[in-house]
Amino acid sequence: MADFVRVAAVADIPAGEVRTFTIDGTSVAVANVGGQLFALADLCTHDGGPLGEGEVVGDTVECPRHGARFDVRTGRVRALPRSSRSRLTRSKSKATTCG
Ligand code: FES
Repeated sequence: MADFVRVAAVADIPAGEVRTFTIDGTSVAVANVGGQLFALADLCTHDGGPLGEGEVVGDTVECPRHGARFDVRTGRVRALPRSSRSRLTRSKSKATTCG
């Protein structure tokens, strides 16, 4: 995609926020980072979360589902999703008998 498509004015997306737009049937997340707008696919690579409903954290957009963060300039993953599992723990129990 070499063409630019106007979807909003900078003033339409407050600094530090992200919005979703549909361009030719494709959902796009547009983030305002420091007064500059950056477009990312509105689809988290982890499990399909809507990045346009996420939050701007520094120069990343954080997925609202599990917290993966994507660089607004490159689209690369900068932080992996939060684990939903607890850490593995070990336990021992002693059987006691009476009598
Ligand atoms: S769907 Fe985005 S971090 Fe899981």
